[in-house]
Amino acid sequence: MSRKAFLIGDPVAHSKSPLLHGLWLQELAIAGSYTAIAVKAPDLPRFFDRLREGEFVGGNVTIPHKEAALALCDAVDPAARTIGAVNTLVLQESRILGRNTDLVGFLHNLDEKAAGWDAGLETAIVLGAGGAARAVVAGLRERGVGTIAIFNRSLEKAQALVAGFGGDEVSAHPYAALADLAPAARLLVNTTAVGMGGSRFPHLPLDRLPADAVVTDIVYTPLVTPLLAEARDRGLHIVDGLGMLLYQAVPGFEAWFGKRPQVTGDLRDTVLAALEG
Ligand code: ATR
Repeated sequence: MSRKAFLIGDPVAHSKSPLLHGLWLQELAIAGSYTAIAVKAPDLPRFFDRLREGEFVGGNVTIPHKEAALALCDAVDPAARTIGAVNTLVLQESRILGRNTDLVGFLHNLDEKAAGWDAGLETAIVLGAGGAARAVVAGLRERGVGTIAIFNRSLEKAQALVAGFGGDEVSAHPYAALADLAPAARLLVNTTAVGMGGSRFPHLPLDRLPADAVVTDIVYTPLVTPLLAEARDRGLHIVDGLGMLLYQAVPGFEAWFGKRPQVTGDLRDTVLAALEG
């Protein structure tokens, strides 16, 4: 029987996930499908019922449903609970398990492109305080980063994120304090949408980061965002966000179709060409 998986969101037409999963299905010669389905917010509960009835083996959830989907799951994994959002659904005996694989996607991408990035890493800077920031912070905590400084336009939103995590590691700051904290940070992560389509932060004091700092962006359109371009010009190690997109897809595919797919250079090139096309 051909297994069916989906991506639900609104809108979904722009997503490269169907291409990515389609390439893996083809490469691994699996009789299955992965289809993008536009689902409006009021229709989400009905879609979950449809999933429970067994038409699909599971799928991905994207904007704007990641938080609402968590509440509709029958069980959620610890990462999804911490982050407060699910991006992957797996049907298990008519029950829907919600997972969040953005965290492993983020970590694997850094592990691959900046091996050893977390060795002795004491301080990291995270720009933004939305859902993506929560996944990144959860990942950094998992790796034992001692100080995670969140910078956000809205300080209240950053403070709410900090309160959600508890503990002393995570703290909230206005952008004006970035220059003071930068010299201690060997990792800077952008989790905001700034960079998309070439948009820029007003000014970030990248010159204050240590010479061995890693700068990474979750935005991958363009692949080298203005932030990454500036960091590269300053001689810092940069890691683009495409790998996070590719690696977050691995656990879902494996759960739905039973084989672990590989993230290869060819796969990266094909997805990148589609993004640029
Ligand atoms: P996501 O779930 O993708 O992280 P989100 O929850 O809407 O999306 O969060 C978007 C984040 O990007 C927020 O931290 C937002 O900052 P504010 O809370 O101050 O709005 C940040 N962001 C979006 N546009 C920005 C901009 N032009 N400059 C700085 N931060 C921006």
